[in-house]
Amino acid sequence: METKLLLRALAGETLPVPPVWMMRQAGRYLPEYRATRAKAGDFLSLCYNPELAAEVTLQPIRRYGFDAAILFADILLVPQALGADLWFVQGEGPRLSTVTGPEDFARLRPASDVHETLSPIYETVRILRETLPPETALIGFAGAPWTVATYMIAGRGTPDQGPAHALMAEQPEVLEALIERLTEATVEYLSRQIEAGAEVVKLFDSWAGSLQGAAFERYALEPARYIIAALNARHPGVPVIAFPREAGARYEGFAQATGADCVALDSAVEPDWAATHVQNPSKSRVCVQGNLDPRLLVTGGPELVASTRRIVRAFAGGPHIFNLGHGITPDADPDNVARMIETVRG
Ligand code: CP3
Repeated sequence: METKLLLRALAGETLPVPPVWMMRQAGRYLPEYRATRAKAGDFLSLCYNPELAAEVTLQPIRRYGFDAAILFADILLVPQALGADLWFVQGEGPRLSTVTGPEDFARLRPASDVHETLSPIYETVRILRETLPPETALIGFAGAPWTVATYMIAGRGTPDQGPAHALMAEQPEVLEALIERLTEATVEYLSRQIEAGAEVVKLFDSWAGSLQGAAFERYALEPARYIIAALNARHPGVPVIAFPREAGARYEGFAQATGADCVALDSAVEPDWAATHVQNPSKSRVCVQGNLDPRLLVTGGPELVASTRRIVRAFAGGPHIFNLGHGITPDADPDNVARMIETVRG
């Protein structure tokens, strides 16, 4: 019988205590992460150093005993592997060379060429699979095509993904081509992570919520469906978590439409609504992941405990993975993380 709680929940089992992990669990709120990042030099050097990337992945496992470890890397390594320039401005975020027309697109490498740049990431996965405790599941990940495209088009993070929406309106053929290239590259990248030892993969579509109507179907739902079908064909039985962040009512039916084994919910989703409409729709049962507001790990107190309990209770009738609605922030208190886990497991 499968002993890893995360894999049991993903297989559809309703567990007395849900498995728990956190988005960005290896990160700046931990002093040991900051020390290892300093040793690596900077964030990207850390991502491409398999020993140190494995070390930061393991830090939250040692400190808290989470049920899953997530590979330490970044969704923007794929654009870099396709030939984009990428750098991080301390305290501001990522910067990339932009894709604003057919000439920029023509300079990108084919999807099958990403492995040369990304091979250190596969090595991190191999190290982790050898070092993780037997009860801890290993999650690989990639950005979803739309979210990655928004950064490639704008050259940075934007509040409203304006440049990507402008490209959609003005040169839809360029956006289509970029989404297709990213879709193929993502299949390649996740397949190699699975071959190296990832037991689950997660697709982060952080900006799915900015897509409206038919554009949501075309740029969020359809690429996810394609990627999941390709992975299922190549690696049957390896579960996929999809995170169409801020999809709102469109969370309903998303797992069925894409073939995802689990959908991750952001903090705006009401747990009671999601239990009825996403986790336990009348015909099938879908594993859900989420969705504590990460701000509660900064503020703590009785509200943290009450919200944690409310989520556990709301999803107790079906398969559930306890997590946050988005990544933990650098100002979070590590003691609040311990309190959250005690509450889930208590
Ligand atoms: O969850 C994990 O612990 C695994 C590692 C991981 C990182 N980024 C490490 C990281 C994962 C899964 C990501 C995903 C990611 N990266 C997303 C999707 C999820 C989301 O947060 O919406 C996005 C949009 C990115 C792109 C990205 N990377 C941005 C916008 C930033 C800057 C913002 C910030 O928090 O500083 C990053 C940097 C980044 N990625 C850090 C970490 C730990 C912080 C870098 C540092 O140490 O200075």
